Amino acid sequence: MKKIVFLTGAGISAESGISTFRGGGGLWDNYPVEQVATPEGYRENPALVLEFYNKRRMQLLDVVPNDAHKIVAALENDFDVTVVTQNVDDLHERAGSSNIIHLHGELMKVCSSREPYNENYVETLSPDNLCVKLGDLAADGSQKRPFIVWFGEAVPRIEDAVWALRDIDIFVIIGTSLNVYPAAGLLNYVPSDVPVYLIDPNEVNVTRRNVTVIRKGASEGMRFLVEEYLSKVK
Ligand code: OAD
Repeated sequence: MKKIVFLTGAGISAESGISTFRGGGGLWDNYPVEQVATPEGYRENPALVLEFYNKRRMQLLDVVPNDAHKIVAALENDFDVTVVTQNVDDLHERAGSSNIIHLHGELMKVCSSREPYNENYVETLSPDNLCVKLGDLAADGSQKRPFIVWFGEAVPRIEDAVWALRDIDIFVIIGTSLNVYPAAGLLNYVPSDVPVYLIDPNEVNVTRRNVTVIRKGASEGMRFLVEEYLSKVK
């Protein structure tokens, strides 16, 4: 089976109704990123940060995977598929993808404030108990915090993502402005003879040559990618 790696960003979930981060009306326009997505912001006002992620978790209950997530999942019938996502939502999982690397954490999980990366203290919240409050403690006795990689923090799963690029045949980027590193740098690890497709309705700056840009929304773009390219290489 040919091996495809997808790199996805907020744009793939936009058609499900989840805001992107940048651009008009993006999440970072309405919430100062340094308050809700940095360790310093969390130290300063943990209640506000917990509340921000509680709200985003609640919002997840109201949304469902769209066709782009579903087509990515369905490709597992014909390809060896890995999804590397910057998204913290669980829409790839709910669409049925089985091999997902969450670079920036997962909204449905919480972890220890003292040791955020210690797997022993990571816990998945149940849909009927999504809210974390001050005083809720992780198994090590520290405050539970969102299992989110904030700005200025290490990205522990980047090595898994680089590893996933070994022997790939096709690399597909969907709905990311490629502004945030190290995720954006993954493209540099893709060998130059591997075809790269980029699906985004807006212009995205890519330095690499030979990227086939599909200037469409995620679902329409995925349909196009399958019909025009993937159905011919299986
Ligand atoms: P951005 O908000 O920076 O970029 C979203 C991209 O999606 C843009 O290129 C849009 O043009 C595109 N887009 C919008 N609608 C789309 C649609 N219907 N179909 C396809 N694409 C569409 O989001 P990311 O690049 O994912 O990190 O942001 C990267 C990281 O920055 C996030 O993971 C988050 C954020 O700060 C953390 O929270 C650590």
